[in-house]
Amino acid sequence: MDTPVNAVEPVKAVKPKTVKIVEVGPRDGLQNEKALIDTATKCQFIEKLSDAGLKFIEVTSFVSPKAVPQLSDALDVVKSLPVRPGVHYSALVPNIKGLERALESGIREIAVFTAASNSFTQNNINMTIEESLAAFTPVVERARREGLFVRGYISTAFYCPFEGKIEKEPVLAISQRLLDLGVQEISIGDTIGQAVPKDVHTTMTHLLQYLPLAQVAMHFHDTNGMAIENVKTSLDLGISIFDSSAGGLGGCPYAPGASGNLSTDALVHFLHQQGIQTGVDEARLAEASALIRQVIQQTDGLVEDIGNLEYLGQVTYPPSSPL
Ligand code: HMG
Ligand code: MG
Repeated sequence: MDTPVNAVEPVKAVKPKTVKIVEVGPRDGLQNEKALIDTATKCQFIEKLSDAGLKFIEVTSFVSPKAVPQLSDALDVVKSLPVRPGVHYSALVPNIKGLERALESGIREIAVFTAASNSFTQNNINMTIEESLAAFTPVVERARREGLFVRGYISTAFYCPFEGKIEKEPVLAISQRLLDLGVQEISIGDTIGQAVPKDVHTTMTHLLQYLPLAQVAMHFHDTNGMAIENVKTSLDLGISIFDSSAGGLGGCPYAPGASGNLSTDALVHFLHQQGIQTGVDEARLAEASALIRQVIQQTDGLVEDIGNLEYLGQVTYPPSSPL
């Protein structure tokens, strides 16, 4: 095991004063919705998210359209989005074909995605963890050469729907492999929303002894309503990057039991209550969330796999909202 890089023990870490929120609603939120949403509506949703002050928005995926038909319009979505100063658009990329499409779209940030369990990577991207890292090697190399920012996701970092509890050691080992490939930010995923603060504390205390704190993000799903508690634990460890999805939409079609993502509305509200700056306007965010939930209800009849909405109680939605 390498020598720990952090001079300060994570348990003594300073709670951040500002956080980076990576809004994943247009990607993680929509990928699970069966009825196709048109490109213009997706772009309208993304624009409303920027209007609310979100600066990092994962807008789509350059994956196989057979795997995720909802995001088959990735190229059109990215090409239709206006350049907005300070707003970073990103997209998932699983292989070289995906990178080529991403480059054609003009997007400047991508994310590769693997997992801490082989059963999940097989189910999700038809590769073992090793095969995924091999597939990402030329992707990350070329993306970095082209000047793109590259994030790496590690799904099932706490629990896997097929293998159960995941130990901290493989999560660290995969994180280090991704950083060695040239990935610049690692997002640690509780894909099926089973982690509790003790799990987060155990795994993340271990990881943060070896990984640069500023490059670590947390990606919580809210199946059991524990996402905000898990954010609290992560903040106490000094972590300042969180993924969330407007309106609490989301899930992974390849992870049975994966429910909605941590809702951005709940996250922002919670952070503001803690005196932590986000740069997000809660009322405008509520408008974006209401828009997409309404569209989904109209197209699908229901909002798939909605997360725990307890924390949304304090957010005021327009009367027409499906909430
Ligand atoms: P495969 O079938 O093994 O790959 O899929 P393949 O290379 O044999 O290709 C099959 C077909 O797809 C071919 O087309 C390829 O050309 C095409 P055909 O010849 O049959 O007409 N293809 C592509 N087309 C467009 N763009 C591409 C691409 N690649 C192949 N990039 C593959 C392997 C990885 C492609 C597939 O399994 C896939 O796309 N999977 C994506 C699954 C996905 O998006 N899952 C959800 C995201 S992960 C997640 O949600 C978790 C996360 O939120 C974090 C967390 O919560 O933990 C990130
Ligand atoms: Mg996810």
